[in-house]
Amino acid sequence: MTAVEPDAAPERDLALTVNGRRKRVRIEDRQLLVDVLRDNLGMTGTHIGCANGDCGACTVRMDGQITKSCLVLAASAEGADVTTIEGYSPRGTLDHVQQAFWDLDAFQCGFCLPGHLFAVRDLLDRDPDPGEDDIREALRGNLCRCTGYVNLVAAAGEAARREREDQSP
Ligand code: FES
Repeated sequence: MTAVEPDAAPERDLALTVNGRRKRVRIEDRQLLVDVLRDNLGMTGTHIGCANGDCGACTVRMDGQITKSCLVLAASAEGADVTTIEGYSPRGTLDHVQQAFWDLDAFQCGFCLPGHLFAVRDLLDRDPDPGEDDIREALRGNLCRCTGYVNLVAAAGEAARREREDQSP
């Protein structure tokens, strides 16, 4: 009796922009965006924590929206414009959010850092003067296993203060 070969997983080409560069990759139809970013494109700064949409470790910006890439079927990202943590600061300098996180020790192991940075950046782009409740709400979908929430909230507030100071005449 001969062994039956399992059917190969259906594949397709995927074209998208990642951190400002056009990419074309061969993917399996079943792959998630987080897996394509990490495994096919080597963007391992996008982390996998829960693979369930709960922890925020896989957060990217997709077409301008904060997105949990473990919840996105990669095939649906055809033509999308994706920013990963590697492209967060394209000029290679720290923005106020990153600098405040650094100065106020707002990360420990760093695993959740990409999601928290994107969440705070997104908040400050919408609201330059958020209150503590606004900050906590913005960070709600991001889990810090080191429980560094006090410093995370403080750093977000400090980043907002520095940006306002920078932009005041
Ligand atoms: Fe996507 Fe946790 S890995 S939200």
